[in-house]
Amino acid sequence: MIHILRNNNARRTLVLLHGTGGDEHDLVPIGSMVDPEANLLSVRGNIIENGMNRFFKRTAPGVFDLDSLVEETHTLHDFIVDVISREGLDHDKIAVLGYSNGANIATSVMMFYPDFFKEAVLLRPMVPLDRDPVRHEETRVLVSSGNHDPIVSREETSALIRKLETMNIQVTHLDNDAGHQLVKRELDDIRNWLRESRLRSN
Ligand code: MLT
Repeated sequence: MIHILRNNNARRTLVLLHGTGGDEHDLVPIGSMVDPEANLLSVRGNIIENGMNRFFKRTAPGVFDLDSLVEETHTLHDFIVDVISREGLDHDKIAVLGYSNGANIATSVMMFYPDFFKEAVLLRPMVPLDRDPVRHEETRVLVSSGNHDPIVSREETSALIRKLETMNIQVTHLDNDAGHQLVKRELDDIRNWLRESRLRSN
């Protein structure tokens, strides 16, 4: 997959997954801001929809092509494993920060691979698919929603949080006075949440 890797010789790696129409460059400044010391692995989605990069196909806004979602979920997981192995990074210290479409595939990865991402910052996420919950033992997630997001309803955010909790994931909910776009204040909150990261210790 097309990607940017900033190997800062840190133990922990923050994977960055952009929103629809973005690319691997988009979230690098945010990643450096919220976790300046981590290695950054920023990946471009494999799917192109009307010229826009995405991580999986959809048939309409909010209606996902589940075959594509599942296939791309495994592809992304395997790609990250390959990069982490090749670079000699720590497989037990992977976090993810995904925005919108990128948050949705990050959640899908968590639905298939327990404790692969030990920490996840999900920005404006939805419930990507319905699947029997896999049990995580040591994952914490920050769900960052916008209270007037026209794309993701409050009900959808609540449903996702419930779903993550049935997977034994420790969830923190940040409900911003915002729409689908990120706001400056939330980045400070994300940085503070990541400062408490268990991945920082040995
Ligand atoms: C998606 O397609 O993943 C969601 O609708 C969010 C978006 O990318 O618009």
